[in-house]
Formats: sequence, structure tokens, C-alpha cells
Amino acid sequence: MDPLPRLGIDFGTSHTVAVCQWRDSAAQPLLFDASPLLPSAVLADGQRRLLVGRDAQRGARSDPAGFEPYPKRRVDEGTILLGGTEFDVADVIAAVLRRCTGEAARVAGRPAAEVVLTHPAAWGPRRREVLTRAAARAGIDDPVLVAEPVAAAIYFTTVLGVRVPPGAAAVVYDLGAGTFDVAVVRREGGSGWSVLASDGFDDVGGVEFDALIVDGLRDRFRDRDPDVWERLTNPRTAADVRARATLWEEARAAKEQLSRNSTAGVHVPLYEADVHVTREEFEHVAAPLIRRTVTMTASTLARSGVRPGEAAGLFLVGGSTRIPQIATQLHRRLGIAPTVIEQPELVVAQGAVSSAGPAPSTVEIPEPDTEPLAPPPQLAISTPPVPPPAPAPRRRRAWLAAAAAVLVVAAGAVVYLVVNGDSRPPLTALGQQNEKVFESRKLADFARPWLNDVNECKQLPPDTYGGKATEYVACDTPNWQVQFRAHDDQEERDKSRLDRQHTWGGTPQSFTGAHPESGRRIDYLYYTSRVIYWDDDDSTIVGDLTSATLNAEQLAEIWTRYVM
Ligand SMILES: Nc1ncnc2c1ncn2[C@@H]1O[C@H](COP(=O)(O)OP(=O)(O)OP(=O)(O)O)[C@@H](O)[C@H]1O
Ligand SMILES: [Mg+2]
Repeated sequence: MDPLPRLGIDFGTSHTVAVCQWRDSAAQPLLFDASPLLPSAVLADGQRRLLVGRDAQRGARSDPAGFEPYPKRRVDEGTILLGGTEFDVADVIAAVLRRCTGEAARVAGRPAAEVVLTHPAAWGPRRREVLTRAAARAGIDDPVLVAEPVAAAIYFTTVLGVRVPPGAAAVVYDLGAGTFDVAVVRREGGSGWSVLASDGFDDVGGVEFDALIVDGLRDRFRDRDPDVWERLTNPRTAADVRARATLWEEARAAKEQLSRNSTAGVHVPLYEADVHVTREEFEHVAAPLIRRTVTMTASTLARSGVRPGEAAGLFLVGGSTRIPQIATQLHRRLGIAPTVIEQPELVVAQGAVSSAGPAPSTVEIPEPDTEPLAPPPQLAISTPPVPPPAPAPRRRRAWLAAAAAVLVVAAGAVVYLVVNGDSRPPLTALGQQNEKVFESRKLADFARPWLNDVNECKQLPPDTYGGKATEYVACDTPNWQVQFRAHDDQEERDKSRLDRQHTWGGTPQSFTGAHPESGRRIDYLYYTSRVIYWDDDDSTIVGDLTSATLNAEQLAEIWTRYVM
């Protein structure tokens, strides 16, 4: 008989993700209509039944009054009115959870033996109680509750193999659809995690970025025909409601496209016009909102007592972290290279199912969840101001927590340490892929500390390097690039060194690092880019770390992290 599955559910504002763990096998996200992202949307039909996910979204086209796209944002409202019927908010959330447990049971052939539910770190007892009540109504007895940043940290360390040694801390930056959450988490004795500090905004998420696009369209279109814009803002008929939904859907899709392309087309319903928005325009209006989250990240880190140079990682979680400017601003402000992954929406549920043992016992400053959540996005928002460094009134909570006890076995890391006697982090899937790009093992070994944290490494033709190289590999992140070169012999290597000294005016200094790369380092300015050159005294290989955006200090901090 199949072993019983463990199920992790991340009930999110726009999406819910459920991941199944069968004993001794890799965790797998459940698919809903072929996608791991189940829309958290709910629709009440005429018979008091609740449809969930894409069924709800489809049904909303003909029956918009019974539709709630973001039930998580309404967790504080005891009841929700859907299509003229009042529902207990726990029943609405239960409908979403039931869809997950039902699908897990269908796939596994039996109900999950254990269910782990995640929640924002800032949710107090009252909101957690709503979640537990919803779980009970969905037939989930005794769910294990785990804070979202803790689940995320578990995923990055135990599943991806990012090394956070015991006693070290990492920053989790989670920007989803409805909320922003930041937490500094510390690894305790190799097996548990504590939340040192956390904070968040209830009113900053992907939906607010969509609103910025809608604001821009309003400025372009309202004067053409104010009555039409009024219908898109305060719909009078079912057709208007559908048009408004289309407008917001178009805005969201354009915003997402702008993370990949420099322009995106938007169809504006009722005006029946097609326009373009550029990434530059979007970045201009989005920058203050992003800055608020980055400022909060910096202040949360400061409050945790961990200095940026000491943080073992900055993990980006949630679909909105795909906006390129987020990684750029974070890197610039903190000097920590963010760890970005392909599907940041799945991190929390994957981490939840990978956690083991009891729920984290966090010590919280008891602050009741009395503040209402932000309203759904019907109301166009204006650009929020940059908050002062002191706690802003909309901040949800700033609490210090101690001694969480999520028992996690970092199986991969433990095996690696014992078998290899090597304290370096195991390579993640990306790291392994990057390692394969190298032809020379020696060059790959020199580059190894960097390989988990850079985007795809690429071989460059060795003759495109100014001097004579035998192999030339470049790896990028949004803010810095690192290049590794092998030369024929040490004489060739020295030419490279002297060129930095004489042509570019750098001063060489010796260093003795923890790794075999001990050797010479030369910092210099290459036109407008900062560069750190280093080599290994005993070898014929060198590295160049370059950035057009970071200052000398920030670049040095990155270099030190990987080489020393
Ligand atoms: N390429 C992209 N660029 C910008 N934003 C994106 C991109 N892809 C997805 N998003 C945004 O990510 C958000 C969804 O992310 P996610 O599923 O992590 O949120 P959630 O878990 O539902 O919300 P929360 O964690 O706030 O409760 C949406 O607002 C979506 O528009
Ligand atoms: Mg989320």
C-alpha cells in the first residue's frame, strides 16, 4: 500500500499552493487545471455552494456579485457577503483548503496523514484561529501551523541546499499578491529556526502594482470620456463589472510581462482601445512602493542585530519578486546578492511540507489583529509615500521572537559534510548546472563558491578576452557579474595582474582566504564599473567581479562573502 502523504498548503491572497510529500520521495506540487497555482478565488452559486479556483473565476463572468478573488484579505471580517448570501469567513477559506485536501486524496488514494498550513509571520492568534477553524471545517484535524518565512527558509536550506550554518541568519523577503512580509530567521543548532525580527505591510503586494498600471490608464483615458471611466470604477451593470474585471486582469498581465519585456500591450475595455506601457514608466511609479519594502527590510535587519555582511542569504519569495527592480534595489541597499528562483510562488508550500516536527514556538509581542486588511483593489490607489525610518502607522507589527523549534533535518548538507569532510555548501540544481559549464575542473573548483547564487554561467570564446586565456566563463546576477579565466601559465596570469595595476591604476594586496584562492586582489575602476580582480598565487586562474551599480564597499562585501 502507498505510504500516507504529508500535505503542505500555502493559502495565499491570489494563489494557493499545495505540495504533497510521499515518504522517501521528492515533494510534488498538486496540479489544479494543469497548474500548481490554484487561484484562491471563491464564487457562491445560487444554492449556497462555493466554487473555488478557475471555476470561480469563470463563473464570475456571468455572476460577478457572488465572487471574492482574494478571501485571505478578508480574514478579519467575521462574515462575507457573496451574491446576497452571508458566509462565515472560515467557511470561505475552508472551501479553498478542501479543494487541496480533496485533490491530494484523489492523487494519493487516501487523505493526507498530516497537513501543514502556513500563515504570514505577523498573523496573531485571532487570524491563526480563523485558519484553524477553516481547517477543521475542511476536515483537517490538528493542522501544523508554520510561519511563511520559516517555511521559506526551510525550503532554501534543506531543499535547495543553500548553506546557512547554525547560528547564522538569513533574510526572507516575501512579496506576494496581497501582502509584504520580511523576516530575519536564524538557524538554531542545525535543526531549528527562530524568527529574530519580522515586519510587513498589509497593503503592499502585487495588487497594488496592478493598481499603479490602472492609475496610469485612468490618467490617459478619463478625460476622453469621464462617464466611461466612472463605469470602470463604479460599475452599474453586470457588463460594467465584467469590463472592470477585464481592466484589472489586463493590468496584472501587463505588469507581469514588463518583468520580462520592455513594453506590454494593454486592452482598455469600454473605450475599446489598445495602448502600450513601458517598463520605464512602470518602474518610475513602482519605485517608491518597492523602496518602502526595501527600507523595511533594512530596518528589520538592523533590529534583528544581524549586520548585512553577516547574513547568510537573502531569499526572495512570492510572485511579485519577479519584478527585476526589487532584486536591484535590495542588492544596492543591503549589499547582499538576493537568491532568486524560477518559481517563487511555490517556495512556502514546498518548505512547509519539508518541515518536520512540531509547529514553531515563537514568542510574540502580543498585539491583537485589530487592524483591518486593505480593501480589495476596486479603489484605485495613489502612490504611497516613502515612510520615515521610524515605525510607520500602517505597519502591521514589529516583534521580536525567540527560540522557534521547527525540527528540520538538513539531510543533503549533513551527508555532504560527513562524506566529503568539506564545509562548502552542496551545489543546488542550478549550481550543478553551472558547474557543468566549465571544462577545466580546476577553474570550476575556483568558481564553485559562487555557482549556487548566479544565473546561468556561460562559456565565452577565450579569444574575446584581451589577453591570452584558455577558458573564459561569465556568470551574472542582476547587479554584478563574475568572470573566471584560466591561462596557459603563470606568466600569462601575471600579465593579467599587471594590466590591472598599470593600465587601470589598481593597488595589489595579498589575502589569505579560507579557500585555496588565497593570492592577490586588485580593486580598480574600469571606466564606470567597479572591479575586483583576484587570483590564486599557486595557479594560472583568475576572477573578476564587476558591477556598474554597486559602490566599492558593497562590491568588496560580496567578494569577501564568496572568497574569504
Ligand atoms: N512576472 C511577474 N512580474 C511581476 N509580478 C508577478 C509576476 N508573476 C507573478 N506576479 C505577481 O505575483 C503575485 C502572486 O504571487 P503569489 O502567488 O506568491 O502571491 P500570494 O501567495 O497569493 O499572495 P500573499 O503571499 O500576499 O498572500 C500576483 O500579484 C502576480 O501578479
Ligand atoms: Mg504567499
